[in-house]
Amino acid sequence: MSHDGRIALTRDGLSLSRLVFGAWRLLDSAARPDAEAVARLIGSAVDLRLTSFDHADIYGNYEVEAAFGAGLARWKGKRDSIELISKCDIMLKSPNRPDNRLKHYDTSAAHIAASVDRSLSNLHTDYLDLLLLHRPDPLMDADETATALAGLVTSGKVRAVGVSNFTPSQFDLLASRLPFALATNQIEMSVLKTAALTDGSLDHAQRLAYAPMIWSPLGGGSLFTGKEGREARVRAALAAVAAEIGASDLATVAIAWLLRHPAQLVPVLGSMKPERLAAMIKAIDIVLDRQQWFAILEASEGRPVA
Ligand SMILES: NC(=O)c1ccc[n+]([C@@H]2O[C@H](COP(=O)([O-])OP(=O)(O)OC[C@H]3O[C@@H](n4cnc5c(N)ncnc54)[C@H](OP(=O)(O)O)[C@@H]3O)[C@@H](O)[C@H]2O)c1
Repeated sequence: MSHDGRIALTRDGLSLSRLVFGAWRLLDSAARPDAEAVARLIGSAVDLRLTSFDHADIYGNYEVEAAFGAGLARWKGKRDSIELISKCDIMLKSPNRPDNRLKHYDTSAAHIAASVDRSLSNLHTDYLDLLLLHRPDPLMDADETATALAGLVTSGKVRAVGVSNFTPSQFDLLASRLPFALATNQIEMSVLKTAALTDGSLDHAQRLAYAPMIWSPLGGGSLFTGKEGREARVRAALAAVAAEIGASDLATVAIAWLLRHPAQLVPVLGSMKPERLAAMIKAIDIVLDRQQWFAILEASEGRPVA
């Protein structure tokens, strides 16, 4: 971690904000935000020092990037004061992609190149700070995919490359063909989904010294709405810790739980509400002690550790 709390992703200077703004749900609300509203949201995020924005070509049925780009064009800040992340390779069945007869993946050189060009155009930028392969593709030809990714870096269209939802073995395969290190693996984890602690993902990240990005860090909101035993137990444990440390929000403690892990997890926040983003930013200044951390794990798993 650098002195200002940012997370270094590559040796040549790419870093992300300690928490990242996830754009997946940008168009989810009934009232679709116009470009001015998106520009205001970008400004609010940057004011909170959320300078890194996580996208994918498919978000909002292939429409989020362009809506965000329209807001970005109106936003008054400088392009090099933020980081734009996007992803490719998921092919959705969508009216916006009539050629996709079914959902599938595509890591071919032709698709990666075309998808990045569309992302650049949608986002009104001439480079992505980070491109991720969204999901492992069983038909990935590692040599072809790596050559395509390396070419994007050489051309300057992409500053760095990473993956998402890859197992350590899938990560290693692609990494073995690249002339540079993969910058991250964006994986699912939260106080409700703890598999990454034991499935080797976080061990791999620490061994190779990359910071994993974490999606759905609040379980996609089910932390607050879920009616299962696990969710109720976790809410009670978060509330107990919040009372101990004087935090006013369960989301703040749930994010602090992720930040406590030594692998330098980078949570990608999904809320579109600046006041909720502001509450979660407070997690950066919280260090849970071991027993607080384990109390939340115990509540999630429904039993004490062995
Ligand atoms: N790589 C992948 O495969 C993958 C998959 C999924 C997501 N992602 C990335 O991860 C990002 C985050 O995922 P996510 O949206 O599922 O994240 P999340 O933070 O787990 O969930 C966000 C949802 O929780 C709701 N929420 C309810 N109460 C909240 C509270 N008190 N504080 C904060 N949020 C609250 C938010 O609603 P409001 O907006 O109303 O606050 C929002 O709908 C996405 O935007 C995307 O960039 C990546």
